[in-house]
Amino acid sequence: MTAQIIDGKAFAAKVREKVAAHVARLKDDHGITPGLAVVLVGEDPASQVYVRNKGKQTIECGMSSFEHKLPADTAQEDLLELLDRLNADPEIHGILVQLPLPSHLDEELIVNRVDPDKDVDGFHISNVGRLATGQKSMVPCTPLGCLMMLRNQLGSLSGKEAVVIGRSNIVGKPMAQLLLGDSCTVTIAHSRTRDLAQVVRRADIVVAAVGRPRMVPGEWIKPGATVIDVGINRIEAPEKGANEDGSVKMRLVGDVDFDSAAQVAGAITPVPGGVGPMTIACLLANTLTACCRANGVAEPEGLTA
Ligand code: GUN
Repeated sequence: MTAQIIDGKAFAAKVREKVAAHVARLKDDHGITPGLAVVLVGEDPASQVYVRNKGKQTIECGMSSFEHKLPADTAQEDLLELLDRLNADPEIHGILVQLPLPSHLDEELIVNRVDPDKDVDGFHISNVGRLATGQKSMVPCTPLGCLMMLRNQLGSLSGKEAVVIGRSNIVGKPMAQLLLGDSCTVTIAHSRTRDLAQVVRRADIVVAAVGRPRMVPGEWIKPGATVIDVGINRIEAPEKGANEDGSVKMRLVGDVDFDSAAQVAGAITPVPGGVGPMTIACLLANTLTACCRANGVAEPEGLTA
């Protein structure tokens, strides 16, 4: 069997189109423009790229983008004060503090200072609790994107065996909650799981989010399963030759060994071009959702859990 390749880039474009159409209606019918504030502390190059992409896509969807770039030595009190101002600003419906933060800042304190209703990352402890208890919450973007792709691929997920590999607060745990919310039988596997191969083999749905290059081989996959690969790992690619300075070229691979898994799975997300593009699309969807809730306007269908 050769798996269907799930095109995350195309699916993310559809999500953004849907967001943009709803934003246009909000403006026309209610005179409201959703606003997203992104806070970046320091000059981490990868974070700068993320933040630039977020700002660009926010504007392309017709929303307002506010960027706050602070120096790496920003005092905690100053950052908290900025968050208080953003929390109180009625033009801002979503707030995202780019992680990781410099080590002198207390990440937990800062994440929990964001108004939970504006917490488009879904990292605030209130949102974690709301998700776990089945209440309306803001849902972390990457697992939300995975859920959207799974529903699009499979329709109802009810009764399916789902195995999530990885127990991070950002992906593994919320992913498991979302799958449980859709009535899957859910297993969370991690580095101490015994006989991981046997655990993965029973899954109709595999979500791999561990950050270890190609650790899930095709022989672990149940024939016909749907495989969502959240991993983005940079590895050396000598087959691509050398850079001008003589260093080895790099390439991106997932947590799943794509070539062997694609021989067995029913459908699989590639890396790159699978889950990655969905994350920012879901951030935009979350900003729209937060704006609709703040204004008592009906939420768009299909963009939330
Ligand atoms: N850094 C890398 N990914 C993310 C994300 O999804 N949210 C935030 N806030 N920071 C990140």
